[in-house]
Amino acid sequence: MPLSGGDVTEGVVRVGDTVRRPVGPHSPAVHGLLRHLERVGFEGAPRLLGMDEQGREILSWVQGDAPARPLPPYAVTEEALVGVARLVRGYHDAVSSYEAPDDAPWDTAASNLDGEPEIIGHCDVTPENVVFRDGVPVALIDFDLARPTTRLYDVVTALRHWAPIADPCDRDGLLYGVDVGRRMRVFCDGYGLDRDRRRVLLAAARTRFERSYDAMRFRAEHVGGNWARMWHGGAGPRIRRAQDWLERHWDELDACLN
Ligand SMILES: Nc1ncnc2c1ncn2[C@@H]1O[C@H](COP(=O)(O)OP(=O)(O)O)[C@@H](O)[C@H]1O
Ligand SMILES: [Mg+2]
Repeated sequence: MPLSGGDVTEGVVRVGDTVRRPVGPHSPAVHGLLRHLERVGFEGAPRLLGMDEQGREILSWVQGDAPARPLPPYAVTEEALVGVARLVRGYHDAVSSYEAPDDAPWDTAASNLDGEPEIIGHCDVTPENVVFRDGVPVALIDFDLARPTTRLYDVVTALRHWAPIADPCDRDGLLYGVDVGRRMRVFCDGYGLDRDRRRVLLAAARTRFERSYDAMRFRAEHVGGNWARMWHGGAGPRIRRAQDWLERHWDELDACLN
């Protein structure tokens, strides 16, 4: 069964209790990561089961649903937000003991923050990449963008989608009028983000927007495919509107966080 809801990879299919996904240059690095997560007993990620005869990776199917657009009510509650925050924290704690090979071929063409990498981040914590069971987030999927980064980068990326840090006109219907500052704080509390990181969170979001605009344009031009489709579908102006919205609401968001 072909799986929709993903935005990037073509040809992701479900076969029984497995998912088959095309591989790329980054896949050996991601496979090492998934094996580490299995080794340390982290339950919130699919297991790598091997490769199939068509050269695709075989992952375990995670029972549940990844929310599609428009987002369903269960995906926008504060309980869901806290659950995602805890899941990201659990992932960070599980991955912090991973010593990736120096030459692991991570996909590094995307944006990043300055500062020494602390962990291998997931780097793409969107609603479509979180599996829920009975309204509770249980697993992260789609580790294609995983790479060395900081904990803060993953938190900011998750907040971009889950708070969301977006102009209301670009938000999903059920998130149109939400109190974003409050949701940011709820997420940070759920994650257990320390005060020093909270203080620089908005500045990190500002930097990330600037860099992800450039990175997305670069991928649209040089990788093409669904990246180009996303770009031509208005990803650039959406980032610009989110930046404007962030600048206009800076003080009130900052007051919620600190
Ligand atoms: N291991 C899995 N368990 C459950 N659902 C999955 C799994 N892998 C993929 N899916 C479903 O397929 C969709 C697309 O897969 P994903 O790996 O995210 O690819 P893409 O790169 O296209 O985003 C997901 O949003 C989710 O609905
Ligand atoms: Mg995905």
